Amino acid sequence: MEPINVQDYQSLAKDRLDAKVYDYFVGGSGDELTVERNRLAWDSIQLIPRVLVDVSKRDFSTTVLGQKVDMPVLIAPCGINALAHPDGELAVSRAAAAEGVIYVVSTMSNYSMEEIAGASDGVRWFQLYCFRDREILRDLVERAEASGYTALCVTVDVPMLGVRERDKRNRFGMPEGLRLKNLEQAGADIMAQASSGSSLNQYVADQFDPSLTWELLEWLRGITSLPILLKGILNAADARLAVEHGVNGIIVSNHGGRQLDGAVTGCEALPAIVDAVGGATEILVDGGIRRGTDVLKALALGAQAVLIGKSYLWALAVDGEAGVRNVLDILRWELSSSMALAGRPNIASIEGDLIARI
Ligand SMILES: Cc1cc2nc3c(=O)[nH]c(=O)nc-3n(C[C@H](O)[C@H](O)[C@H](O)COP(=O)(O)O)c2cc1C
Repeated sequence: MEPINVQDYQSLAKDRLDAKVYDYFVGGSGDELTVERNRLAWDSIQLIPRVLVDVSKRDFSTTVLGQKVDMPVLIAPCGINALAHPDGELAVSRAAAAEGVIYVVSTMSNYSMEEIAGASDGVRWFQLYCFRDREILRDLVERAEASGYTALCVTVDVPMLGVRERDKRNRFGMPEGLRLKNLEQAGADIMAQASSGSSLNQYVADQFDPSLTWELLEWLRGITSLPILLKGILNAADARLAVEHGVNGIIVSNHGGRQLDGAVTGCEALPAIVDAVGGATEILVDGGIRRGTDVLKALALGAQAVLIGKSYLWALAVDGEAGVRNVLDILRWELSSSMALAGRPNIASIEGDLIARI
């Protein structure tokens, strides 16, 4: 089957991947209510198109944190990409650069952030997990800055890992031979400990700092001048606090349904956060983006751009770099055609009146 949409890639990836790896990618926490709702939320939005607008030329380029991008889609930080394809994050780095989108590289990558930086000349941000040991954090931030990452995306919804029952049942751990290279060099030799019995998830959970507070931001400001985004905000009160603490961007996200099961979706949380922030900082959203129309809806609700997680992982699993490029092309085409059909020829014309308030 020639994949023509994200769902096709998911079906193909399911056939191709080891069942435990597929479960690790697809699964969420608890009853996976939030995973499911991430899709339903976008699906339940209805659009009100305009007609007799000249849509013969469509322009979906925009900016994210002042950076020009070819479309309002970023690659979300997802760990352990070598599970999907041996080229892992190197393939994603090349694909994102070729397609003109920003790649947010996970702390938990299999290739080191320096190797990923060396694979392409695209724009990259570094996603930071907050370890108890601030020296590990400092090292990660300094290395990110030194290797040309242009923003830090601090994930704040993981005081501990959500309980992912598929992984528990599968006793899922990192396959032998795969490493988390960013952390080895930082002195946290995760694999040495993971291979001595505890699962990777458990070990990583032990490393994260559950006592983290807003103080982190002052600490980070003290060691870096990189722009800082917070990823994992769902509550408007937290969005206001983020603005008070001077963040450069907010990613409205429930971590793809992998953290608090029952959490509101990014799609549903977005309007209140846009309202609360009032333009004081840029707002991105993720969770369940599978179609160009989902991107259109997110923008109409006030997001500057969206991030895709599983959509790119499926394509990476099926066809490596070419797969990720193709899935970005598919989303670009879907966005382009839906903009035409909605009578919105450019990003600025995608406004709230596109959404049916029922
Ligand atoms: C397999 C997998 C690994 C992930 N790893 C990370 C990670 O290392 N850091 C992070 O901030 N988010 C991580 N996420 C969450 C994504 O960044 C993103 O929020 C989520 O995937 C968006 O939902 P979607 O998969 O429906 O697009 C991961 C998601 C998946 C599916």
